[in-house]
Amino acid sequence: MSDQPRTILITSALPYANGPIHLGHMLEHIQTDIWSRFQKMRGHNCLFVCADDAHGTPIMLRAQSEGITPEQLIEKSSREHQADFADFAIGFDNYHSTHSEENRTLAAMIYTRLRDAGHINSRTIKQAFDPEKEMFLPDRFIKGECPKCGAADQYGDNCEACGATYSPTELKNAVSALSGAKPVEKESEHFFFKLGDFEAMLKAWSTEGHIQKEVANKLNEWFEGGLQEWDISRDAPYFGFEIPDAPGKYFYVWLDAPVGYMASFKNLCSQRDDLNFDDYWGADSKTELYHFIGKDIAYFHTLFWPAMLTGAKLRTPTAVFCHGFLTVNGAKMSKSRGTFIMARTYLEHLNPEYLRYYLAAKMSNDLSDMDLNMEDFMLRVNSDLVGKVVNIASRCAGFIKKRFNGKLSESLSEPALYAEFVTQGESIAQQYEKREFGHAMRNIMALADKANQYIDERQPWVVAKEQGKDEALHAICSMGIHMFRALICYLKPVLPTTAEKAEAFLNAGELSWNDVKEPLLGHEINKFKPLMTRVEQEKVDAMLAASQQHLERIATPATVTASGPLADDPIKEEVSFDDFAKIDLRIARIVKAEHVKKADKLLQLTLDIGGETRTVFAGIKSAYAPEDLEGKLTVMVANLAPRKMRFGLSEGMVLAAGPGGEELWILNPDEGAQPGMRVK
Ligand code: 2FM
Ligand code: ZN
Repeated sequence: MSDQPRTILITSALPYANGPIHLGHMLEHIQTDIWSRFQKMRGHNCLFVCADDAHGTPIMLRAQSEGITPEQLIEKSSREHQADFADFAIGFDNYHSTHSEENRTLAAMIYTRLRDAGHINSRTIKQAFDPEKEMFLPDRFIKGECPKCGAADQYGDNCEACGATYSPTELKNAVSALSGAKPVEKESEHFFFKLGDFEAMLKAWSTEGHIQKEVANKLNEWFEGGLQEWDISRDAPYFGFEIPDAPGKYFYVWLDAPVGYMASFKNLCSQRDDLNFDDYWGADSKTELYHFIGKDIAYFHTLFWPAMLTGAKLRTPTAVFCHGFLTVNGAKMSKSRGTFIMARTYLEHLNPEYLRYYLAAKMSNDLSDMDLNMEDFMLRVNSDLVGKVVNIASRCAGFIKKRFNGKLSESLSEPALYAEFVTQGESIAQQYEKREFGHAMRNIMALADKANQYIDERQPWVVAKEQGKDEALHAICSMGIHMFRALICYLKPVLPTTAEKAEAFLNAGELSWNDVKEPLLGHEINKFKPLMTRVEQEKVDAMLAASQQHLERIATPATVTASGPLADDPIKEEVSFDDFAKIDLRIARIVKAEHVKKADKLLQLTLDIGGETRTVFAGIKSAYAPEDLEGKLTVMVANLAPRKMRFGLSEGMVLAAGPGGEELWILNPDEGAQPGMRVK
């Protein structure tokens, strides 16, 4: 190891206990886990802790609607969250909860120190109160008409129709989204953290390399806007911690959430004798502290959190690493498209290491969003991991086992080539260190290409059949295994499970980063077992279909009321006019309609859209026989990206209406319509 061992504490943002883990969470935990595993492989003392974020109104209300206590709800979530993370091989050193004694004590300590140093104000404010539920209403639980444009059903403090911002008390005909009752205004005393006291400290901190450039720019905007006092209290009923010396007042969930990082670490200290809490959190701590978070919660982590820590005479983070969001197939995760993917749904169909690798290959240290494109996902994983990496071992291992009693050659036949693998290890390590995982993956794959090229040129399968070429065969296959070992070592932070299987095959213990420098000369390896299989289209399709079904089952909030068919099938998320205008609807003539082999629901339609013919698979077999359709006109989405289905390529979509089964109508345009006409 080149550098001195460092002492590092790493965290991922704490997931809320009122919902399941989805792939957006996994992106962050995978990023953090890769960095943590990398640091450990480099020989540093690194710890990775996390917890469930268990407090707040939504958790309280969800428990109520499920007829259980908040404690029961958070206990169930914690079990599910931890199982999801474990199955994605997220290697926490500890996973705790913000609803813990450690967190209660630490939050109270921080608050008391802030209060005693004069950083807390209190004053009476007016807020909307639900007289039926007998509780103050957070902005998102009040709806009414926009005071500017009159649009109905606007939530909280901004109008989605005209963009106006206002205070929730200005909403016209406001109702509580919880009970439908008309909220009344009620006064109550609140506690405020005086963020402005820390302006000079925060301004300095923001220029000292603790945050990314984009975040520093954002901070400058916030500084220009002025640092407002932060309301850190909530009235009962609230699921959280009561504020010391303030009965009936609770810490706002975001006050004790980041303290949860400390609480989880404190809980770890109680399990291990070698850790000292103050070494990590004391004002003069020499250890490194990193928070990995999504860009949406930068305000809390780069303003409130360092200010709270400073005010409480504790250390501040070495760095806060922000990342972008996960999109699926180029768009925000969408429930209706089946791309809002829960971690568990993914795990039921696909190997978690596919996703770890695919996301790693896209990750950088900036805030840009990352897209999970399912087509690209399959191609990338199959070509890189299965086609390039795993393949090297499977091409060489059999010969070593059968012809050389499992022993690798006593010397390296191509020392210069091997030296390249060793040297590249250092640049790859630098890329991991900088969280440029995409670069690291590209470098590793360039090495894999070299290894495959070497094997392709030496053709061990041909050499194996030649008389008196044993030594050459031994040399080629041993080189292959050595190069494979280097690749697996460099991929180990990303593919811990595959690496573990490869370690069993290599029979030389756990790989750490610098082991590559020492090839396993004359070493006996074990029988090779396949390390990873290809991603299959059927499994991806099944995962997407299951995501859609799963979401259809998830209950809509108990407070939403509607009548008629909308109750079962609520209107989807609003789209902008510009988004809508992108959809090209055309009249199409159904030239041919045919059954599709082995498909229960689909018909294959050949559509004429005026000078162009399209093939579309439509799920309308329950309502139409092919002969009913031929010659008829319908409306199609003509610019929908073609989709590969099990039965062929579908080049668009026809529009139909109805509840399903036999009641499904392909819209029949007027007599005067002609194929290709635009539908307006
Ligand atoms: O945004 C969220 O999901 C929060 N539960 C993150 C909290 S991170 C930390 F501050 F606790
Ligand atoms: Zn409005």
